[in-house]
Amino acid sequence: MQQHERANFGSKLGAILAAAGSAVGLGNIWRFPFEAGNHGGAAFILIYLGCVFIFGLPIMIAEFVIGRRSKASTGKAYSVLAPGTSWKWVGYFGVLTGFLILGYYSVVAGWTLEYVFQAAIGGFSGKTPGDFVGMFNDFSKDPLRPLLWLFIFIALTHFVIVKGVKSGIEKSAKIMMPLLFVLIVLLAVCSVMLPGAWKGIEFLLKPDFSKVTSHVFLGAMGQAFFSLSLGMGCLSTYASYFSKDIRLGHTAMSVGLIDTCVSVLAGLVIFPAAFSVGIQPDAGPSLIFITLPNVFQQAFGDIPFLSYICAVAFYVLLALAALTSTISLHEVATAFLHEKFRFSRGKAARLISCSCLLIGIVASLSLGDWSEYRIASLTIFDALDFLTAKIMLPLGGMLAAIFVGWFLKRKIVRDEVTNNGLIKAPYYSAFMFILKYVAPIGISFIFINELGWLG
Ligand code: PHE
Repeated sequence: MQQHERANFGSKLGAILAAAGSAVGLGNIWRFPFEAGNHGGAAFILIYLGCVFIFGLPIMIAEFVIGRRSKASTGKAYSVLAPGTSWKWVGYFGVLTGFLILGYYSVVAGWTLEYVFQAAIGGFSGKTPGDFVGMFNDFSKDPLRPLLWLFIFIALTHFVIVKGVKSGIEKSAKIMMPLLFVLIVLLAVCSVMLPGAWKGIEFLLKPDFSKVTSHVFLGAMGQAFFSLSLGMGCLSTYASYFSKDIRLGHTAMSVGLIDTCVSVLAGLVIFPAAFSVGIQPDAGPSLIFITLPNVFQQAFGDIPFLSYICAVAFYVLLALAALTSTISLHEVATAFLHEKFRFSRGKAARLISCSCLLIGIVASLSLGDWSEYRIASLTIFDALDFLTAKIMLPLGGMLAAIFVGWFLKRKIVRDEVTNNGLIKAPYYSAFMFILKYVAPIGISFIFINELGWLG
């Protein structure tokens, strides 16, 4: 019935870039630096890389297998592959996770629009580092302004979803991803040349293992899942649009590499700049909104036009990178309502957009007027981030690994990773071993360790 919607991405590169478009977003440029900053820098990054390669890539391939085989969005994929079992709840759980992420993620995505606006009207010019701190604090605590941008951002996402995303996602990703990459390399170069930048480079590259606690492991694992868009079926939904000749292992490797490079480059932009202007690396969610305008000001201070262009271009690209991620999050929930309850796509999208706006409003206000309402001492915004990234995504990823590792027929998995025997998949045994044992045991261990049950 839905065959007409199950269009394929037009090319292999298109598929890679669309998946990378979902993966690369605020997670890399906003969340990664502040998680690394909060968890001691280089040691966190090493553990993060371990999580990407040990859990991330195999689970990404597992999600690709689920999506391409079922040809359904995640909310339905488990019911297709394991009809009549409780596995369907894993799909629903993914939809709920994505929906919650969309709520608070859109708040930060809205902030990027404010910064596009500020950059465009020349609002950064002549400001000192202290001014940028004040500017961000005033803005994020304002009861109305962030809500306005939140609304606009959700409306933009809604618009793309309703228009149909296939060629939209693929086309925009093909133009945007390379551009973002070039810009971030350029900024990294500028940032490391700022006076006093070496302290930031050291923070990023010299691991201090005395800082490694159970929080660091949970933080790194959560960041790996968040950044790679894993654990909620986002990439499995995209894989349902993959054609038969797409190589799953190769695609996962490419997406993983692109995503990791962007994160590390973002670290190279943020930390040298933060140290250079004397901002603490653990400043939290405000980090990029304070350090980046400074980089533009200081690096190109003598050439105001260059500083202006770079600032506008950067925030536009950041907003677009956020948009390709919110689209992928929205698509999962919309496709679920559409497939499960037979709502029209428009109606499904409207329902998701409105309810996600409500979550976003609460999350946004929790950083200002409602900051006294706390859950286990966290603001609602932070609690949503903690719950989704550090608990729900790793849990969803672990269940996907168990599903493919233990439940799905061997032949199905092998056929998918070898494209029905047409290509070789030398990683197959290691991949299955990780799905069956390493991922479930490793992720459980990190959870248990964080809860303090290991003493
Ligand atoms: N990976 C996206 C980012 O880094 C966020 C995201 C998480 C998107 C989960 C989809 C699913 O910004």
